[in-house]
Amino acid sequence: MTANTTDTGRRGGADRGRTGLLLLTSVILAGCEGQQSALAPSGEDARVLGNLFWVMLGGAVILWLLVNGLFFYVTRINRAALSRRFANGLIVGGGVIFPTIVLGGLLTYGLSIMPDQRAPGDGLTLRVTGEQWWWRVEYWPEGAETPIVAANEIRLPAGERSEIRLDSARVIHSFWIPSLGGKMDMFPGRETRMSLKPEVAGRWRGQCAEFCGASHALMAFEVVAMPPDDFNAWLQAQAAPATSPTTDAARRGARIFAREGCGACHAVRGTGARGAVGPDLTHVGSRLSLGAGTLTTTLADFERWIAHTGAIKPEVEMPGYGHLGAAELADLAQYLKGLE
Ligand code: CUA
Repeated sequence: MTANTTDTGRRGGADRGRTGLLLLTSVILAGCEGQQSALAPSGEDARVLGNLFWVMLGGAVILWLLVNGLFFYVTRINRAALSRRFANGLIVGGGVIFPTIVLGGLLTYGLSIMPDQRAPGDGLTLRVTGEQWWWRVEYWPEGAETPIVAANEIRLPAGERSEIRLDSARVIHSFWIPSLGGKMDMFPGRETRMSLKPEVAGRWRGQCAEFCGASHALMAFEVVAMPPDDFNAWLQAQAAPATSPTTDAARRGARIFAREGCGACHAVRGTGARGAVGPDLTHVGSRLSLGAGTLTTTLADFERWIAHTGAIKPEVEMPGYGHLGAAELADLAQYLKGLE
């Protein structure tokens, strides 16, 4: 009876162990999926880097097995003293020749894929500037003399390689879209360059990958790859000035926007707002996020953002406009949401 109970208890423990292991494995693997994963590549560059990772991991696993196999052999299977000749052979073979060949091979493979990460683009150039804590984005189609300015969202034509020129306003940031390619640092006063080629249309998430201050973790962006025709139509719409407000609430919101001096920092092209300190808001209503990947662009989130910027994004430069009444916040949200 006792033996039986113990046996059942042990089996229960083993079952729990297996369930736990399964759960842990699925949680870990689930982390590899999704919109922001270097192990779920959707771009040519991310695929190359993903392959590099698996080749390196394979190399590491083989080395680990060899070293531990050898350790197991000399401690458990053959504990007799080794001859000096064998020991010398082991040191030269296992300590010099073998690592030189393996590491040399991995290094050659790693270096051979490097130039691809800087491949020239097919026509579209983007300039992305890291700000505290958001992204200034300029699109330069081939032959353009002035850029189309946007913010906090990167759109790319699928199947085409776009060149991305990066710099920063004040501190070092790092531009990273794990599903599409590697990361590239952004330096104040020095331009870095990379190119990306999304293989399919889709939506992903990018993230600043270099600690840049209090809201570094809240410096994200949405990434959308569109079929080239759709992309060109979208870009043309972005180049257009802002639409006029169509409802009474939005018109009141536009007046509050002007009265509160929002135009000193933000531009709404086609209106008197020409500020360049903060994100261009000409088409903010059609963006996929607010506050650089922090909130959505629902009316409620517009209101939350305007009233509580500092609580949502610590140390952000935009002051909160909590002194506005609920009705005024609602009107302002209607105006901004209407800027599509
Ligand atoms: Cu920008 Cu971290």
